[in-house]
Amino acid sequence: MVTAVIGSQWGDEGKGKIVDYLSQTADYVIRYHGGNNAGHTVINKYGKFGMHLIPAGIFNKKTKTIIANGVIIDPGVLVNEIEMLKKAGVKLKGRVFISPRCHLIMPYHKMLDRVFEEIKGKNKMGTTGRGIGPCYADKVSYNGIRIQDLLNKKSFSEKLKTQLLVKNKILKSLGEKPLNQKSIEKEFLSLFKKIKPFVAETYPIIQKAIKQNKEVILEGAHGSLLDNDWGPYPFVTASTIVSGGATSGAGISPFQMKRVIGVVKAYQTRVGGGPMPTEQLNGVGEKLQKDGIEFGTTTGRKRRCGWLDMELLRFVSDINGFTDIAVTKLDVLDDFEKIKICTHYRSNGKRISYIDTDAELLGRVKPSYKTLPGWMSSTKDIKRFADLPKNAQNYIKEIEKMTGVKVSFISTSPKTSDVIKT
Ligand code: GDP
Ligand code: IMO
Ligand code: MG
Repeated sequence: MVTAVIGSQWGDEGKGKIVDYLSQTADYVIRYHGGNNAGHTVINKYGKFGMHLIPAGIFNKKTKTIIANGVIIDPGVLVNEIEMLKKAGVKLKGRVFISPRCHLIMPYHKMLDRVFEEIKGKNKMGTTGRGIGPCYADKVSYNGIRIQDLLNKKSFSEKLKTQLLVKNKILKSLGEKPLNQKSIEKEFLSLFKKIKPFVAETYPIIQKAIKQNKEVILEGAHGSLLDNDWGPYPFVTASTIVSGGATSGAGISPFQMKRVIGVVKAYQTRVGGGPMPTEQLNGVGEKLQKDGIEFGTTTGRKRRCGWLDMELLRFVSDINGFTDIAVTKLDVLDDFEKIKICTHYRSNGKRISYIDTDAELLGRVKPSYKTLPGWMSSTKDIKRFADLPKNAQNYIKEIEKMTGVKVSFISTSPKTSDVIKT
């Protein structure tokens, strides 16, 4: 059965932990989009890891992991991740498959990412600076270089030469130093030696697994509100995050996806720029940030925090087709006397839906809130729904009522072992 695990907010919902938990019974875990802008934290018996490219399912011995065609790869980051896992005692041989169709993040992508941010100044996006936008832009404009090209030195060299003819002109005109072809070739071919043993066409592996009715998990990266089409553009990332993206990003048919689990942080967070209607620029936001230890896994930036936003969650649930929800970080609300949930937005005195806003209007809508009593006691280590404080149970039920989707998992600590299955 194919299960997609999808971030339902602006990323960092705890997908890494939920995937690590679910992969205890999974045969395959697949990343289908994004790059090392993703940072998925896993805390288990091997230690604490911030995973950027290799799926979080790698820690379960029986699980095989796949970096499918929709993912873009910075080879230096991938090699570091491979080394880190090997050092931690995680066996990778025969357990990691990387599609030759994956596009490469080149040094000029990272430079262009930075230069665009600098030029935008106060209107900057707050990207992770990993070259994501420029790399996907080259992919769709037929200027990408793929893992496939590293298998053939001549092809790699020719493609790089063409790209540098254009990219160096742009970089020079922006006051940047031009890049040297030979040194990029040397670096990439040397890194590729460590990646090559894992390269294999991933489509037949995935299709065979599905046809044999294996447990397959699609590990979504980022959050649906950063989806290139469906987030508040331009404050988005470059890939298709919603569950449908896995059809092209991994090569599966929509009919093969049977379960879509939306990972919902019990409150809202965001890193980088862009509108966030329920952001609390006050003591509440500061307390959520502090109690939730909300710092970006990839960039270390402080995350912006606020109350759970149901206007957004209803939209995200529909567009992804959530069959289940996993609520994470419930424990972070343990010490709040009152908890608010945004039920809908108003603008100029009238109700307005997310889908009728653009990024500018979304930054001006007035959220309407429902206030619920907190539970003021610890939920850490609780293993059964019935043992949760009554008001915590009610908070979960409210999420179910407002989305119409069953909350099947509740996470109450960063550790993979702490999950309530309802
Ligand atoms: P991801 O990108 O969706 O995988 O999420 P991140 O790893 O970037 O951020 C989630 C953070 O919350 C990490 O530091 C996790 O260790 C932590 N976390 C996950 N689930 C829980 C939870 O239920 N309670 C608490 N307190 N922390 C959690
Ligand atoms: P995970 O998988 C949080 C955000 C960046 C920025 C915007 C564009 O850990 O949930 P990019 O570098 O992608 O061009 O930046 O997207 N962003 C994320 N925020 N978690 C992520 O991934 C993110 N991936 C991208 O902060 O606002
Ligand atoms: Mg993250």
